[in-house]
Amino acid sequence: MKKLGVNIDHIATIRNARGSIHPDPFLAAKYVMNCGADSVTIHLREDRRHIKDQDVIKICKDKKILVNLEISLNNNILKIALRNKPNYICVVPENRKEVTTEGGLNLSKNKNKIKKIIFKFRKKNIRTSLFINPNLKDVNLSKEIETDCIELHTGKLSDLIKKKKNFTNELRKIKNCCNLASELKLEVHAGHGLDYKTTKLLAKINEIKEFNIGHFIIGESIFYGLKNIISKFKNISNN
Ligand code: PXP
Repeated sequence: MKKLGVNIDHIATIRNARGSIHPDPFLAAKYVMNCGADSVTIHLREDRRHIKDQDVIKICKDKKILVNLEISLNNNILKIALRNKPNYICVVPENRKEVTTEGGLNLSKNKNKIKKIIFKFRKKNIRTSLFINPNLKDVNLSKEIETDCIELHTGKLSDLIKKKKNFTNELRKIKNCCNLASELKLEVHAGHGLDYKTTKLLAKINEIKEFNIGHFIIGESIFYGLKNIISKFKNISNN
């Protein structure tokens, strides 16, 4: 069975749009787990544009929530992550101007720094993952860094599919990385830009053990949830 991690950053974005407490990412994290997700992903960005420090504290404290915390290489973020002891961490690159995590880590440039980070979390029995672009060099470097898992960035594949462009080459790259990772005994995850179609396609790859999906799940739940809420308001306003 493949695992599903649900990224709830966008719930924090909606909450922050009004500077209020609703919808609460902590309640969302509990609900997501009750709905059958295997884990909840949150990204504490350096600019705190969605998830805030208090969200991390509350979500990590609840031991019924399996938390995958995405972190950059920033020292302050690392300290917060080590202090709050999530179940898993995923190291991601971060660029303040980006709308979302646009690519994988630059492992060649940051190998030693990332290796030290991974070691700190492994010492605390926290599962480690590196968010990388699907290329063989980065899979090999991930092994050298001694991470438990890699997460392959599927943004390019998703984009090509959405734009109805040829995606054969990108899919082949992902498959080759999966094969190599499996030989090297690295667990493979996949994430970014995934929807029903792309997930179905990637689900055929046995080596992928976990999907991490955010934007599409939260967006799609609008269409599956609106009916209930509208009828609730019709009832409230007419009794
Ligand atoms: N995996 C990682 C490492 C990410 O950084 C993100 C985006 O925050 C996702 C998965 C989820 O991407 P999306 O929101 O496009 O599903």
